[in-house]
Order: sequence, then C-alpha cells, then structure tokens
Amino acid sequence: MELVMIKKMVASFLFLVVLLAELQAEGITSTHAARTNTLPLNQLLKRFNKPPVKSIKSPDGDIIDCVNIAHQPAFDHPLLRNHTVQIKPNFHPFSRGSKVSAETKAKESKPITQLWHLKGSCPKGTIPIRRTKKEDILRASAAQNYGKKKKSPTNPPQPRSAQPDLISQTGHQHAIVYVEGDKYYGAKATLNVWEPEIQQSNEFSLSQIWILGGTFGQDLNSIEAGWQVSPDLYGDNRTRLFTYWTSDAYEATGCYNLLCTGFIQINNEIAMGASIFPLSAYRGSQYDITLLVWKDPSEGNWWLQFGNKYVLGYWPGFLFSYLADSATMIEWGGEVVNSESDGQHTTTQMGSGHFPEEGFGKAGYFRNIQIVDGGNNLRDPKGLSIFTEQSNCYDVQNGKSRDWGTYFFYGGPGRNPSCP
Ligand SMILES: *[C@@H]1O[C@H](CO)[C@@H](O)[C@H](O)[C@H]1NC(C)=O
Ligand SMILES: *[C@@H]1O[C@H](CO)[C@@H](O)[C@H](O)[C@H]1NC(C)=O
Repeated sequence: MELVMIKKMVASFLFLVVLLAELQAEGITSTHAARTNTLPLNQLLKRFNKPPVKSIKSPDGDIIDCVNIAHQPAFDHPLLRNHTVQIKPNFHPFSRGSKVSAETKAKESKPITQLWHLKGSCPKGTIPIRRTKKEDILRASAAQNYGKKKKSPTNPPQPRSAQPDLISQTGHQHAIVYVEGDKYYGAKATLNVWEPEIQQSNEFSLSQIWILGGTFGQDLNSIEAGWQVSPDLYGDNRTRLFTYWTSDAYEATGCYNLLCTGFIQINNEIAMGASIFPLSAYRGSQYDITLLVWKDPSEGNWWLQFGNKYVLGYWPGFLFSYLADSATMIEWGGEVVNSESDGQHTTTQMGSGHFPEEGFGKAGYFRNIQIVDGGNNLRDPKGLSIFTEQSNCYDVQNGKSRDWGTYFFYGGPGRNPSCP
C-alpha cells in the first residue's frame, strides 16, 4: 500500500541527510572530521547563517537573525542566482460559500504567533531566520552515524510488496487522514498546538500536512508544514513551526525550514523553526494555527500561508518533478518515532497525548481541512480515509460539522496498558 511506503520514507533523520550532503559538498566524508575540524564547521555555519541586519534574542534561547531578503539561503541555489523574488502570489485559492475565515470564531480557539515576538521584530525587507548554532550541527552529526546505519543513500528502495512489519522496521507511527486518486493543487487545515512529551531525544512528535506526488522510495515529491517537537533537531522540547520539502524521496534534495536552498521566504514576521506561543492546555484554552499550501496557477510556485494574514513564501516550481504539475495525495495528521529504547513502546505523545474520543479541549484536532482543486477552489476532501498502525497507542477519528467542516481528532499517549 502506497501510504505505508510514505510512512517508511518519512525518515527521522531528514535533517541529517541534508547535513550529509552539506558535509560532502565541503569535502568532509566523516562525521569525526566535522567534529574535530573547526574550519569546516565554521564554513557550514556560514552557509546556514547569513549576515544579519539585526538579531533578536528570544526568551527560548533562540537567536533570530533578520536577514536581507535577497541574502537568504535560497539564493545560494545556482538556478536561483538571477531569480526575481515574487512579492506576493498571483492567486489565492477561492473559498466557496461561507468564508472559511469567518468560521474561526467557532468554539473557543484562539490565534497564536511566536515566542520571539516578545523581544522585537524584523524590519521590512528582511526575513527572520532561526540561527543555527554549533551545537545544532554537532548534535545532528552524532545522530548521523545512527541514521546511516539504518538508511544509506545507496540503499535500494524497498519494493512495496516486501513490507512485513512497518512498526518494527521504521519505528514511525502515525494517526492520519488522507485523500488520493485525484489531482490536488493544495491543502488547508486549522490545527491546535500542543507540547507533546518526548521520551528519547532521538524521537520526535509532529502534526502536519503532507502534499505528495511521485513514487515512494524513488522520486517522491513532498511538501510538508506543521508543528513539531524534535529535541535532536532543535536542542529542546519546545513546539516549533516547521516546513520540509524533498523531490527525491528524502535522499539528496530538501530540508527542514530554511536549512538548504529551496524555500524562498518573503515574510518578515514568522520564522521557520521558531517556537510557537502560546499553546493549548488540557481542559483549558485551545490555540490553533491555520496552514494553507497551494500552487499558484500562473507561476507554478507552491506557496505557504500561516494564519489568515501571513504569506510566508514559496517553493519554486522547478524544485519538483511531479509537483511541478500537481499532487496525487494529501495527508493530515500526526507522526511520532517509537524507538522502543527500553524494549517497550515509547511514551512519546502524539497531539495532546490524549486519545481522540476525549474531544475538544482535551485531544488534538485538525478542523476545516480542505484541498485545492484544479479550478483553484478550496473544497472539502472527498473520499477521506484514515490510517493508524496501532490504534491502542495513537488513534484518529474523523467527522463533519457545520462550523468545523471536515475535521478529525487524533493522538494518544503511546505506551499504556493496552499499548505495552
Ligand atoms: C544570470 O545572469 C548572468 C548575467 O546576466 C548570466 O551570465 C547567467 O548565465 C545567469 N544565470 C542563470 C542561471 O540564468
Ligand atoms: C526533554 O524532555 C525529556 C523528558 O520528557 C527530558 O528528559 C529532557 O531532558 C528534555 N530535554 C531538554 C533539552 O530539555
């Protein structure tokens, strides 16, 4: 089943693949070299961190650099040397009937932003970039050995017929809804934001939208956006806004956030990889974010919007093969890594850490989920399916209502008496 392959390929060490590529580009073949030789490390840092116009120290310990929009990492790409930045998308998807934005009053969910806003803002003409620290790279390099053991770039892709046990092979678990079998030009969702507990630093918990095209294990194209807690990637347990893209099934291309050339950011208010604030509380206030990814029908670029007013930027169409046309599958939901480090199921939580049947105020949700059709209209997805490997550990339940359109609750605690 194709979906299963997707899950297999969403590797936990995507960032490492990028770093490996970067290291190879620098002529460094071993992790050891990266750790002991400070020069390449500095060069790496220079590649990630462009000279800022201004820097802001966030209360969470991050440094947010305000970088001239023309100096962002994307423009290191040879094909982007002469690129003219698109200041805004030519078209937004049309929302038929009742405005999707009008429904945000539904229930008591509240809009949210990012923690670093408490300490300042980036001037017009710049974009905020979370500074990569030396420790970030060293942490990833250490994990890189582990990642290479499980998956090397020369690994032949596994045939679909040979997947006896998804869980023990990859350790990734999901609770998602998805549509496939049509041409999709985007997707949208409003999801509440939590801070799930992570048992092991090499595990993560995320909630996101996947926009997919191509074949698993070979040339999969993927655009992803959502929130995640990933101690290995960020060095803490905070919930962060993230994006990811690949055009070859996570092998050589793509990266998280702005950690490689690719995504062109135009917005000066939202930083990729920066922590989100405030967060939803169990039996308390619910805070949610709205994400919209869509393909501009005239330029062919894939745009990302956060909330109703922040157009963050775009992935140029030429980065992709299949997505240069359209997506063939959209998924929404949660994913965790279950490394079973102590021989038992991980206690890493998904969503709020509570099962979907607990409902609003307690469980994680995605509401008003929509796809963008060939006419650039936002529509309810048709023929929605749900998928989870072990519903006793993490589950998903979908529904429909007037205010919430197509929605679902998802998540769970991981290890519990019925998930040993
Ligand atoms: C960019 O412009 C320069 C100067 O006009 C030209 O020599 C070069 O070929 C262009 N590069 C690309 C990738 O189009
Ligand atoms: C993250 O949380 C785990 C326990 O949930 C804790 O052991 C670990 O020290 C935390 N990591 C950081 C960087 O705070």
